Amino acid sequence: MRPPTPRTPRSRRLHGKVAAAATAVLLTLAMAAPAASRTEEPTRSYEVTGPRTAAQRTAVAATGASVDAVRRGSVVITADAAQAERVRRLGYSVRVLPGPPDRSDGRRAEPFDFPPADANYHNYAEAMAEINADIARYPSLMSKQVIGKSYEGRDIIAVKVTGTGTGTQPAGDGTAAAAARPEVLFTHHQHAREHLTVEMALYLLKEFGSKYGSDARVTKMLDSRVVWIVPDLNPDGGEYDIATGSYRSWRKNRQPNNGSSARGTDLNRNWDYKWGCCGGSSGSTGSETYRGTAPESAPEVKVVADFVRSRVVNGKQQIKAAIDFHTYSELVLWPFGWTYDDTAPGMTKDDHDAFAAVGKSMAASNGYTPEQSSDLYITDGSIDDWLWGNQKIFAYTFEMYPDSSGAGGGFYPPDEVIDRETARNRDAVLQLLENADCMYRSIGKEAQYCR
Ligand code: ARG
Ligand code: ZN
Repeated sequence: MRPPTPRTPRSRRLHGKVAAAATAVLLTLAMAAPAASRTEEPTRSYEVTGPRTAAQRTAVAATGASVDAVRRGSVVITADAAQAERVRRLGYSVRVLPGPPDRSDGRRAEPFDFPPADANYHNYAEAMAEINADIARYPSLMSKQVIGKSYEGRDIIAVKVTGTGTGTQPAGDGTAAAAARPEVLFTHHQHAREHLTVEMALYLLKEFGSKYGSDARVTKMLDSRVVWIVPDLNPDGGEYDIATGSYRSWRKNRQPNNGSSARGTDLNRNWDYKWGCCGGSSGSTGSETYRGTAPESAPEVKVVADFVRSRVVNGKQQIKAAIDFHTYSELVLWPFGWTYDDTAPGMTKDDHDAFAAVGKSMAASNGYTPEQSSDLYITDGSIDDWLWGNQKIFAYTFEMYPDSSGAGGGFYPPDEVIDRETARNRDAVLQLLENADCMYRSIGKEAQYCR
């Protein structure tokens, strides 16, 4: 299916009879669109005062709301009226927060583009153009693969970045030596409204491209690692979020749900590891954390999971470490999300300690707060649990700027912060690359695990 084409601007260029007929059609279309969304329950942002433990926050999330920020003694959620009422009935006080900011600058928005004051953010087409330009500029360093399509038919791409130099591993592509380079995966934009994460992907490509060959640390890493960047897992949701010129606070993908007017699956509850196991997702289509009909029922999740599985070569997963970028709260999180326990089947004490050691070290460089993801609240079917639990990839979730205080604009920080807040993660990303060949070195157990 093709994305809807913008219609209003062209109507103004038409005249006479044709214009009248066209206007009638356009009006019908314009009236049909809100009818569809009227049946979809509108959501709002709320501050919920009272919950202060992970178990209490998990109970809030179990109403079907998404927990967007965690503070001492309160949380910020996105919920429809029924979900907000359920939270109230848990005994918490619930206060409506202002909606997304108006960034129109009093000017008319272009369909499917960011509002004028946020023009430095990249919509889907702009991001793809930027990436193509990077690849054209650094063709020996970067290449692009279309790994599949979103529900609405947009390309989901992976950009491969690896050096041509000798580095610590011999150079060459497709050779045994190149194959020995540990691989690191960066994924972005599972959640539609988290647009800063796409900017993070664009930053990494620019940084790697422009510093390879001049910056010793970047050069060394790219000559000894293969980096995979999946810049946009949820292009349909992202475009929907900006389509009208005022932000919609959309989270899920845009897949229709059988027998329901509510669209979308929460991609970060749809991964095939302990899917739906533990009260960390919802079975209701109207929920912000709807887990889908089955693991990988969202085409976007299936595409990326298939890509990750395709990196198993001779029975060995080549990808050793990963970061999945989200906003907001300034956190470095590690698995598991499905259990409060530090260790569990598939997570030994050494695994946990290595996750924590590298996680804390990355957090010390970007100023984020490091913790196990379930310290916030339980999630099941999230990407980091699958990457670790199923593929043994050391996978982190970064929640980028702003912090949870409520001062920085939540999901919609102004575009003035893009450069600062993406570059802020440069050192953490390089640290992960440097640790990727042996994550257990961080706990002094290289000899035991990495021979
Ligand atoms: N906020 C993100 C989400 O809801 C990340 C959750 C991290 N995992 C967790 N167990 N809290 O998908
Ligand atoms: Zn997110």
